[in-house]
Amino acid sequence: GVPDQFLRELPKCEHHVHIEGTLEAEQLFQFANRNNISLPEGFPATIEDLKAKYNFANLQEFLDLYYIGASVIVTEEDFYELAFAYFKKAASQGVVHAEIFFDPQSHTSRDVSIVTVVSGLTRACKEAEKKFSITTKLIMCLLRHTAPSECSKTIESAKKYIKDGTIAGLGLDSSEKGFPPSLFVECYEVAKKYNADLRLTAHAGEEGPASYVIEALDLLKVERIDHGIRVADDDKLLERLAEEKIMLTICPLSNVKLQVVDKTADLPLQKLLDYGVPFSINSDDPAYFGGYILDNFYQLSKEYPQWGFFTWGQIVKNSINGSWCDAKRKEDL
Ligand code: ADE
Ligand code: ZN
Repeated sequence: GVPDQFLRELPKCEHHVHIEGTLEAEQLFQFANRNNISLPEGFPATIEDLKAKYNFANLQEFLDLYYIGASVIVTEEDFYELAFAYFKKAASQGVVHAEIFFDPQSHTSRDVSIVTVVSGLTRACKEAEKKFSITTKLIMCLLRHTAPSECSKTIESAKKYIKDGTIAGLGLDSSEKGFPPSLFVECYEVAKKYNADLRLTAHAGEEGPASYVIEALDLLKVERIDHGIRVADDDKLLERLAEEKIMLTICPLSNVKLQVVDKTADLPLQKLLDYGVPFSINSDDPAYFGGYILDNFYQLSKEYPQWGFFTWGQIVKNSINGSWCDAKRKEDL
């Protein structure tokens, strides 16, 4: 193993964090109160009772709670505070570059405009870059459980932000099984047409099969895969990912909390290293899954004691290389 201090000081890049998933229980009640949001019948009344609910049998059980949580985020200031608090926490854990996902449809479906969402997030990005000397990017995700036609509307509503680079990347999240990447080919094509520099990713192979990873690569033309742990079932695919340097954004504590694996030692991480498939280590929905990025690093260090300085150095290098910051910034990191 390696010392905790070494892990703390590694220059980390976060590529997989849903900003709505950084909403701490305390903030959830605070935002609900100040926005006069009434939470649904039977919703836990206290912070303790709410946190006691953070045990999930699968992705869907989590998402059901996550979308209720997102419903308390209303004003530009809410989005700003939420994101700024995340960046502050991340910086304190050694994050030097953070790419954050947001789910506009979970807000626009409640008549919160995409302008409100993006303005608050952008303000937090700028403020955090100044205060913490980090770099940031925004990745807009489409909710795959909604109709592709709804997702197309989201792309239209975000057109100017895609064109001017405010939104740097496009992703795909929410319930995976039964919602294959193939449904979203047109959405990805249209978005890319608005800006050829738009970066593309998609959640695939979290609960869904390795074939969804292949679809995401071949049909959506993504350059990165979020989660992707199911690729371990397919040796040919592992070879391809290594060859094409497709990075997987791995979220160890998430995978355990959503019961995708029993323990992080069951993740195919050694196999990824052996095949030369690059991956980064990320937090997904840290407020709900019991830890931010450094907690994920600690957990892996405990369960992969065979990883020494060299292996950790390689993981961090791969994660810098797979980042969507410019070449100059990568050099500096
Ligand atoms: N939205 C937020 N977290 C997610 C996850 N782990 N998988 C799919 N969609 C999500
Ligand atoms: Zn995710």
